[in-house]
Amino acid sequence: MSMNESAVTRNELRWAVVVAAMVAIVFGAILFATLALHRAPPGQVETIDPTTLHLAGEFAEPALGTTVASNGDVTVRIVAAQFAFVPQCVAVPQGKPVTLRFASPDVIHGIIVTGTNVNTMVVPGYVSEVRTVFAEAGDHLMPCHEFCGLGHSEMLARVRVLPQSQFQPDASGKVGCGLR
Ligand code: CUA
Repeated sequence: MSMNESAVTRNELRWAVVVAAMVAIVFGAILFATLALHRAPPGQVETIDPTTLHLAGEFAEPALGTTVASNGDVTVRIVAAQFAFVPQCVAVPQGKPVTLRFASPDVIHGIIVTGTNVNTMVVPGYVSEVRTVFAEAGDHLMPCHEFCGLGHSEMLARVRVLPQSQFQPDASGKVGCGLR
């Protein structure tokens, strides 16, 4: 069996169309994830002034911890500083989307929530945001995993995943770890 030159050319063009279609599909999926689902790589940076974190805004002390918005969105704000997290324990609901936001006033820290895929660096000058759903109720440890100085190994917080029946915001929409 032999193919003449025009048959070979047609064959090549067909495959070029297939490859172009695959590239278009992948590129379309990236655009869809970025624009419609707001999922973008960490290059989508959100900056914040590390020297005034504590004075005003969402990382001032009264705003830290877990807040439930009027539309039900759950946001957790945590400051990672040498050598502690503020607050030391945060409560989150089981089986619901949660947005975790971190900022550092001093050096680079990192967080990992054990038993989950939550893992990010916290770089001064930037807000690190992680969105996740915690599947299992119970306490998870959240250690700092970026060497940040002599107290690095002492830097540890706790994520308390509460069944939704026990996840009750107070009048200001805050939920604490409580004494359980
Ligand atoms: Cu903070 Cu290591």
